[in-house]
Amino acid sequence: MMSASLTAPINGALRRVPTWPVYLAGLIPLAWVVYLTLTGGIGVDPVAEIEHRLGKIALWFLVGGLAITPARRFLGINLIRYRRAIGLLAFFYIALHLASWAILDMGMLWGQALADLYKRWYLLLGITAFVILIPLAVTSNNASIRKLGRNWRRLHWLVYPAVLLGVIHYLMQMKVISQEGWIWLGAVLGLLALRLVPRRR
Ligand code: HEM
Repeated sequence: MMSASLTAPINGALRRVPTWPVYLAGLIPLAWVVYLTLTGGIGVDPVAEIEHRLGKIALWFLVGGLAITPARRFLGINLIRYRRAIGLLAFFYIALHLASWAILDMGMLWGQALADLYKRWYLLLGITAFVILIPLAVTSNNASIRKLGRNWRRLHWLVYPAVLLGVIHYLMQMKVISQEGWIWLGAVLGLLALRLVPRRR
């Protein structure tokens, strides 16, 4: 835990930041991908590059969302107010990543998509992660949170298997797991392990 003299001004400043700029800032990576695509800066294989970039952005938000609770508990920095925005942005980018595969890569040819899933079965891990996240995204509004009560927290436990599946999907789509891949896996396992640290008293 950082000292209160350090965290108090940070949390005080954060209290003045509403959540809408977080949503807006979260769209910047998408704007960047669109810009690169329109200006021809996306490389020689645009479809693959768009697909990969969207997957990587989704991973950033997913893992970022996982860091928010430990940041409060272990550092004393309170970003809980932005957790819904981060989570929904993660879901949004996963949906775009999925759409880039289905529409741009597979051309909405379902026979081809099935053949691709058969060939690259680890895509199913990503799809499973996406499906798991649907009920979480759908129940992220205030009315659902109120209505579900404690069950809302229970439901949100599903984010852990979803992130694990997402990162395993990412590692498995590499021919040889890169250093960056191991760092992502380490970050996810580390953030999950922090949940197991027993509370004092
Ligand atoms: C939690 C969900 C998911 C996460 C975090 C995720 C993340 C990623 C990442 C980071 C990459 C590699 C990007 C790079 O190399 O820079 C990737 C690749 C890919 N993902 Fe996902 N993904 C998810 C779900 C999905 C879903 C639902 C699909 C739909 C089929 C999908 C299809 C793909 C494809 C086709 C590739 C490229 C594989 C290749 O080039 O061989 N992913 N994903």
